[in-house]
Amino acid sequence: MCGIVGYTGRSAAAPKLLEGLKRLEYRGYDSAGIAVRGEDGFTVYKRMGRVRELAGASTLSGVTGIGHTRWATHGTPSEVNAHPHVYGKFAVVHNGIIENYPELKRECAMRGEVFTSETDSETVAHLLEYYYRGDALAALKQTCARLRGSYALAVMCLDDPDELFGARQKSPLIVGRGEDGLYLASDAPAIAECAELYLLADGEFVRLSGKEVHFYDADGEIFKEPTKFVPEKASPQKGDCPHFMLKEMYEIPTAVAESVVDFESDFRFNEFNRVLCQTEYIQIVACGTAYHSGIAAKYAIEKLARLPVEVTVASEYRYREPIIGQNTLVLAVSQSGETADTIAAAELAKSSGATVVAITNLPNSSLTQTAHFVLYTHAGREVAVAATKSFNAQLALLYSVAIALAKARGQKADISSLLPFPALCRTALTCAEKVKELAPIFAHAKSAYFIGRDVDYCAALEGSLKLKEISYLPSEGYPAGELKHGTLALVEKDTPVVAILTRKALAEKTMNAVSEVYARGGKVLLVTHLGEYAERKEVAAWVPIPACEELFSPILSVIPLQMLAYYTSLARGNDPDKPRNLAKSVTVE
Ligand code: M6R
Repeated sequence: MCGIVGYTGRSAAAPKLLEGLKRLEYRGYDSAGIAVRGEDGFTVYKRMGRVRELAGASTLSGVTGIGHTRWATHGTPSEVNAHPHVYGKFAVVHNGIIENYPELKRECAMRGEVFTSETDSETVAHLLEYYYRGDALAALKQTCARLRGSYALAVMCLDDPDELFGARQKSPLIVGRGEDGLYLASDAPAIAECAELYLLADGEFVRLSGKEVHFYDADGEIFKEPTKFVPEKASPQKGDCPHFMLKEMYEIPTAVAESVVDFESDFRFNEFNRVLCQTEYIQIVACGTAYHSGIAAKYAIEKLARLPVEVTVASEYRYREPIIGQNTLVLAVSQSGETADTIAAAELAKSSGATVVAITNLPNSSLTQTAHFVLYTHAGREVAVAATKSFNAQLALLYSVAIALAKARGQKADISSLLPFPALCRTALTCAEKVKELAPIFAHAKSAYFIGRDVDYCAALEGSLKLKEISYLPSEGYPAGELKHGTLALVEKDTPVVAILTRKALAEKTMNAVSEVYARGGKVLLVTHLGEYAERKEVAAWVPIPACEELFSPILSVIPLQMLAYYTSLARGNDPDKPRNLAKSVTVE
């Protein structure tokens, strides 16, 4: 999604901005731009496409500037809609959505102001100019008081050549102090060289001036401690892998090993364990892949701990009136910790009296500020837009929570059942060659289906999401028993259907669905450790996976499905790391 970088200091601003924007590329965007304050005012340079298209701006002179990568929400992806937006004495970059922009725009138009873009963001520049009476910070405060929605803003004012201003509301903004200047950024990788970082909270403002950083809230200046969080110094590299997605799949065994936690025997979780003992009801809120890990967790928690679990897509939860009892535990799951809907759902749960646990891969992300407890998946940075290792890591951590909940209730469960999974994942990854051979079947299909029962259904959902997001092939994940209630109508000759089969007790039931597909001419690819079923005539191809503790099998069974999405994407000529229209962290509603 959109990214922000700002710099003011002793060095030329343009190279700093371009380097920062490059480090934000993984978030997904469609255009980019920078504005530098030079002798004669602002010079703005915007381009469609990649940050490298801005190379011509690297020689712009000036030591203060702002830059942006834009992921279009309001207004088509175009050069004119790219940020920064300049109006009067102000240049602005914005992340988020200004929800009341139509009425603000009308107001500006009535004053005779002319807009050059279709964006909601340009209204911010107009309001700044309108409220400006010689004090840019005051104008920014007045402007923000008029905005509804979410924003991280970086602002320059012509009258303050060596200053930058920032504001945050529901969209992250970080201040960095480096050796040669001060920085603003939407996320830490953009300014990894800074020795000191400060996180803005909602409703806060910042003024960077020379060597000084001043923070404010609505009432006046405030003091802020630098954060203890140390961002990674170097950006992740692909190494020998052609794509980040492939590299990240090969990191699954480590991500799983690092994310299993024995809560019961770790004193750092004493307070958390106490909460688990009291918990009577669990709600899980998340989006996309993280939502699927929530569904897998439901199966494990209900079975092991006999506690009711409700899993809701965060964008639905936030506008429902969720029923939260006294001992409700809400698990908010988000790789990035910046997903706007998940954060809003967590905030709602908290304000309604639930104990909120953030499960995230990113220290200091916005979700961590909302929660009572934070549990980290240790998947390492995930660059590819399609989540892979973070899903397996979420499962490892959520299953650890399921085991802890079960033990807290005196049920039989032990963390040792998760320990073989890193090695099993390593074995599962050897499916790559076999899956690569099968990819052309999917690459030439009109659509594909993924079916499974019980925990295999969770893997089916995730396999389907992976395939559609990077291969652009219409696809659905379905409970195997539900297929005949509608979706079977879509199966015709050679329609590929992936059946996941890890629950031995349900194998015959799943095979019924396989037979129904076969009878309509569909081509079944079976993912299972149960070789006896793979030999049946209804099965066109078999991808073996190792046998494992069935309840936790999605950690493994999803691996061939992730691989299948990857190789199908390649076979269709796509870039698996950067699927069209999608962004790595979805910071807007
Ligand atoms: O950062 P989050 O886990 O909150 O992201 C949630 C979804 O946007 C994300 O999982 C998305 O579905 C992935 N691109 C799927 O691969």
